[in-house]
Amino acid sequence: MPDTATHARPGLPSAAREAMERLNVEAGDLNIWLRTAANAPAQTPWFKDGGIAPGGTLAHGRVGANQMKALPHRWRWREIAPYLDKIAQIARTADVSPIEFADRQQFLLTNPGLGGRLQVAATIRCAVSIYLPGDVAPVHIHAPNATRTILSENGGYTTIEGERCLATRGDLILTPNGTWHDHGNDGSTPVMWADILDFPLLEFLDCNWIDEDFPGERESNARAQKPTHADGYSARRYGAGGLVPGFVSHRRGIGHATSPLFHYRGQAIREALTALRGEDGDPYEGATLRFVNPATGGSVFPTLDYWAQLLRPGEETRWKRETANAFYIVLEGSGTTEIGGTSFGWEENDIFVVPNFLWRRHINSGAKDAVLYVVSDMPLLEKVGQYRAQGRDPSGTVVQLVA
Ligand SMILES: [Fe+2]
Repeated sequence: MPDTATHARPGLPSAAREAMERLNVEAGDLNIWLRTAANAPAQTPWFKDGGIAPGGTLAHGRVGANQMKALPHRWRWREIAPYLDKIAQIARTADVSPIEFADRQQFLLTNPGLGGRLQVAATIRCAVSIYLPGDVAPVHIHAPNATRTILSENGGYTTIEGERCLATRGDLILTPNGTWHDHGNDGSTPVMWADILDFPLLEFLDCNWIDEDFPGERESNARAQKPTHADGYSARRYGAGGLVPGFVSHRRGIGHATSPLFHYRGQAIREALTALRGEDGDPYEGATLRFVNPATGGSVFPTLDYWAQLLRPGEETRWKRETANAFYIVLEGSGTTEIGGTSFGWEENDIFVVPNFLWRRHINSGAKDAVLYVVSDMPLLEKVGQYRAQGRDPSGTVVQLVA
């Protein structure tokens, strides 16, 4: 059915348009559309300085039909975490375990600007999962790239391509596209983590698939793959920074351009940040570490880039904006991030999103170090030739960081 919505430019006569709309009623049957409306994009030109607050407005015209825009948003851990307990309580007493009808015990974060879609930004999905003792997410393989950011102190595991990774708070565990993986909790207490995926991008590309017909040997529970490498395998092969083994293929699974190092340990990440604590760092980001594919030095996934950043007490970053989206999990500390004119306070385990094109700056207002883990779709934007970044110097003048 043709879209007959009009966005008449004020003062323009519309008799011609009405005539064309009448034609559109019949033309639509041929799957063509006579252009009867102007189309405006949803962002203002990158190079025009509109001040801190303005973001682009929703697109209009036929091109913009049904378009939505992600909004900056923060999910407070103290508000959302109780729902993990409520899910778990239902599971403990259920006639049918929720994992049987929902595949996972988790909640997914929805961006208030995206109409209930299961995504926090154009390319990024995030779920927060709880695994009770004995829970298993069966072995499977899929097109999206995914990670787990571990929020509970310890317990739980993910096995990827035979490598058993034991989960400890602050760990980043990768399940790159095209790797067989399963999750579970064989401990005695619940475990929680945040799952981050490029799922919406794969859906948009209609390139999403999943398979559970694992061809290898399974554990006795018949749902998980039998580990062939003990915990620590990734670190043994790739854990010496700047050194990679010369006798192995750096491709694990059937994905392309993904990291062969699956397990980045929270303790090692924190120690590396601490070692950089006395450095000036980046005026827009603080002291940062990038999670890289050790075989290439590039991002761990072709689509997503992961960083850990340390903000020292009292540290305030300068304003920055990018054409990429950024999604944050607070591992330590408390502070504020100002996004497009709105302040979002945060504390441990809070989660927030900075949609693309919006100005933002971070302030550690707490007495302790703040550690944020950041996910960005910068690698994707770079690959399509659209990555740009701007900052503001202390006087407020816009400077081109990536022109
Ligand atoms: Fe998965």
